[in-house]
Amino acid sequence: MFESIIEQIKDIQKIVFVTGAGISQESGIPTFRGKDGLWRNYNAMELATIDAFYKNPKLVWEWYNERRKNIFVAQPNLGHKAIAELEKYAEVVILTQNIDGLHQKAGSTKVLELHGSIVKIKCSVCDFKDEMITEFSEIPPLCKCGNILRPDVVWFGESLPQDVWQKAIIFSSQCDLMIIAGTSLVVSPANTLPIYAKQNNAILIEINPEKTEMSSEMDLIIRNTSASALPKFVSMFKEN
Ligand code: APR
Repeated sequence: MFESIIEQIKDIQKIVFVTGAGISQESGIPTFRGKDGLWRNYNAMELATIDAFYKNPKLVWEWYNERRKNIFVAQPNLGHKAIAELEKYAEVVILTQNIDGLHQKAGSTKVLELHGSIVKIKCSVCDFKDEMITEFSEIPPLCKCGNILRPDVVWFGESLPQDVWQKAIIFSSQCDLMIIAGTSLVVSPANTLPIYAKQNNAILIEINPEKTEMSSEMDLIIRNTSASALPKFVSMFKEN
């Protein structure tokens, strides 16, 4: 079974990765629901919803400023780097729930950020969007229109950017292999992407030290961390 999947994988061209917080865990960025996960120590409903933001924008900004500090010093790990290297051997698209930019920092060129980016900001009212160049001296910062600026990330209860989500569905529906690494697959709609891949008869592989909501749907499960598993996985393509 294992050998036959490995044989098929070597010739595969269209690969989609669905990644989550776990892939950056070995870069020193905490996950949300793991042992030291952020949502075990912080209340998501007080920090990652639009209601929380309107209630206490300063608190939400302070929390994102802290996370940004940690993310800015973080470096891509062997998992991010292996995925970037795989572009030499196959068509690779990454659909990530992470906002840390580490896939791009590792050199991956096709990354769709489903949940936005920690370096991007937008106005809570008008259409203004920008990249954050430096920290704001006063928080919450204001837009030229007078309303409050917010991190350009997707909070609980919010829709994903429609253009990004539509592309994510298309890539998932057309891939031959989907590798799901470092995500608990509990958050919708990203957790529906494997279903689109399955409809195209794609092979599904999970890389995660723990069981996930969709482990039973997988064709192959690698119970290891992404920084350990992915370099070995990519070396199979090099040998081909
Ligand atoms: N390598 C691979 N997987 C790992 C590693 C590792 N080194 N360490 C932990 N994991 C796995 C955990 O077992 C868990 O299944 O990563 C997963 C992380 O799950 P979550 O913390 O739920 O993160 P994620 O799935 O990305 O969360 C989705 O929830 O709050 C939101 O917006 C936030 O994008 C996030 C979304």
